[in-house]
Amino acid sequence: MAIMIKSPAEIEKMRHSGRLLRQVHEYIAPMVVAGATTMDLERAAQSKIDELGALAAFKGYHGYPAALCTSINEEVVHGMPNDKRVLKQGDILSIDCGLIVDGFYSDAAVTYAVGTPTPAISKLLDVTRASLYAAIEEAQVGGRLFDISAAVQDLCEAQGFGVVKEFVGHGIGRNMHEDPQVPNFGTRGKGPRLKAGMVLAIEPMINAGKPEVRVLPDGWTAVTVDGSYSAHFEHTVAITNSGPQILTI
Ligand code: MF3
Ligand code: CO
Repeated sequence: MAIMIKSPAEIEKMRHSGRLLRQVHEYIAPMVVAGATTMDLERAAQSKIDELGALAAFKGYHGYPAALCTSINEEVVHGMPNDKRVLKQGDILSIDCGLIVDGFYSDAAVTYAVGTPTPAISKLLDVTRASLYAAIEEAQVGGRLFDISAAVQDLCEAQGFGVVKEFVGHGIGRNMHEDPQVPNFGTRGKGPRLKAGMVLAIEPMINAGKPEVRVLPDGWTAVTVDGSYSAHFEHTVAITNSGPQILTI
């Protein structure tokens, strides 16, 4: 399938979707505290999504049961909200959410430390976040897709972290997942040429230890094989003639 090009008007609709998604993230961020459950966050997010008149993009997607993915510690992605899972000091929590607004998807994830992080956790979060912004900087007209991928890989592997290979970013628009896949590893100067109007969900998933992951018997939750903590940051980004534009801001 070809990589779809969005018109400026379509990008504005995606920006609107992304802005509402940011409001959802901002609404629940202060609730990421010791003692809260991931189901508390899910309920709050769903009520905010309803209030905004948006649709939760993940809910019902291949049978996924919730608006949020809430992935704690060694969980990499696709952790499911659970009313028995109580957050505690020292945990890290990735919150991933997507919306559909006026037919257009937006997708964004943030990883938070619960309480005061150790230096090792701060480093994992800081490096993973920095790799997302380094990748976004590579989303330039005339560049190549794997310039984005290499930016993540180079930065994170230089710090000794493991880059997850099994899950990747993606094109996004009238569907949550469009071409191209956006891996977090690759060779600079390779891959499809980047063009104005492409919109990508760029989402480094980075393990403090080895890169290998496996999926739990619940069929969704991906965890690190070595038990190391994993971080995940994601933005929906439009490639334009005036440079990359983060739509989920
Ligand atoms: N950000 C994730 C993705 O790009 C979210 C999908 S979770 C699912 O695939 F539950 F919807 F599958
Ligand atoms: Co995504």
